[in-house]
Amino acid sequence: MSKLTSEIENRRTFAIISHPDAGKTTITEKVLLFGKQIQEAGVVKGRKGKHATSDWMEMEKERGISVTTSVMQFPYGGKVVNLLDTPGHEDFSEDTYRTLTAVDSALMVIDGAKGVEARTIKLMEVCRLRDTPIVTFMNKMDRDIRDPIELLDEVEDVLKIKCAPVSWPIGMGKQFKGVYHLLEDKTYLYKSGLGHTIQEERVIEGLDNPELDQAIGSLAADLRDELELVLGASHEFDLQEFLDGQLTPVFFGTALGNFGVDHMLDGLVEWAPSPLPRETDNRDVPATEDKFTGFVFKIQANMDPQHRDRIAFVRICSGKYQKGMKMRHVRLGRDIAVNNALTFLAGDREHLEEAYAGDIIGLHNHGTIQIGDTFTEGEELKFRGIPNFAPELFRRVRLRDPMKNKALLKGLVQLSEEGATQVFRPQNSNDLILGAVGVLQFDVVAARLKNEYKVECIYDQVSVATARWVTCDNEKMFEEFKRKNADNIALDGGDNWSYLAPTMVNLNLAMERWPDVTFLETREH
Ligand code: G4P
Repeated sequence: MSKLTSEIENRRTFAIISHPDAGKTTITEKVLLFGKQIQEAGVVKGRKGKHATSDWMEMEKERGISVTTSVMQFPYGGKVVNLLDTPGHEDFSEDTYRTLTAVDSALMVIDGAKGVEARTIKLMEVCRLRDTPIVTFMNKMDRDIRDPIELLDEVEDVLKIKCAPVSWPIGMGKQFKGVYHLLEDKTYLYKSGLGHTIQEERVIEGLDNPELDQAIGSLAADLRDELELVLGASHEFDLQEFLDGQLTPVFFGTALGNFGVDHMLDGLVEWAPSPLPRETDNRDVPATEDKFTGFVFKIQANMDPQHRDRIAFVRICSGKYQKGMKMRHVRLGRDIAVNNALTFLAGDREHLEEAYAGDIIGLHNHGTIQIGDTFTEGEELKFRGIPNFAPELFRRVRLRDPMKNKALLKGLVQLSEEGATQVFRPQNSNDLILGAVGVLQFDVVAARLKNEYKVECIYDQVSVATARWVTCDNEKMFEEFKRKNADNIALDGGDNWSYLAPTMVNLNLAMERWPDVTFLETREH
């Protein structure tokens, strides 16, 4: 096997999907501890809820910190793991969704006391677009959680994915004793208060081992009974079904107690796919092809006081990046020499010499790179599957100085090209409506309009509940649709027809009435 192939097949690129407070930050910290990127847990900066929202510089500073933790690469179990951060809390935005298009697998973290929550449902929908394989971690076993069987049922019912428990919890809360690993036939015993370290393993081989009864008393008999029930009612792990996104292996543990996280990581590096082939407009590109290709999935402000530029995050799809190499910016038809791509090790950003398919590199960007752009070694192709997502929050944008309407429109369109927000121009009014996936984006846009376009804007509430991009093969019918629904029809920043619905009921009715019109929740760049 060539060095290129073995490097690429060794890559595991994943992201965490979870609802705020389920434990993503805590688990990231423990994962980095196992990846030997940090000496002791407690150094990953919390990224939640601490924005001084209206202060742009403060926001840049906060986001600057998260640039360094946007991608974390570390060795684990003989593999090279890339963990991509999915902004949550106020930072939640289209970037969160689009990051999921740049990974090959995902880790779903669920708070065992709460079960499946809203944000997780939404993020799972995005994973479904590419049938991304999902590993599940049921967190917070050191608390009084819900019945584990009930939790699995909920995942199966709500998220429509089969569950295959790989580990099973013994007790919960103060009585949490550890987990039984179904595939290894071993019990791992939990000891509280050691969450900041990698603990010595306390293992008992075999389920019928009398040592187990000595260690956990009557809970051992309960465990044996419960497992019989569980095995009867749940699915066995099946690698192919996992790779097809149809089944998720489930691990139980506590991120805070750093228990079970390593079982999950072991499963992830063993089963999760190495970089997968990617679809372009004219062919599929296998990861192990010699020539470099990649696409941009995120653009982020860079917190370098010397250069206040932006960083374009490129997922390498094939071949390798080498310092100084020439890349073709396909959309602009221009070749550029790249000498200073960035990589993002935990808490530290450094220049790198080479990177392989599956890795992420950061390119400095002064406005010429957009979300969805493809880079190659000269081939004319464009990667697919890097969509815009229908916004879920809307505001009408009003100017303090009405004379600056042109500058406002230009600013909004350019910012929407960067990909974090969408702008809509209703056909029946002169309104400008801004749509976003996360609420912080409105503050970001207002601050950037002021700084970069010298326009000050105010937001008003607007009665739009959701938006869909609309298309129809029958031109005549499409014209009629647009005429009859003129109050709801708008053009987006890229001049695509959209339907702005005041309520979900309205949207459902419109979809029923116009079966030949396609209403899309995502739109390709
Ligand atoms: P997030 O990134 O998904 O939003 O979650 P985060 O890791 O910040 O965890 C949210 C809260 O849940 C934190 O407590 C964290 O300590 C706690 N937590 C995470 N994993 C576990 C676990 O396994 N068991 C228990 N009992 N708690 C857990 P907090 O009080 O909100 O924040 P902090 O002040 O401790 O940082």
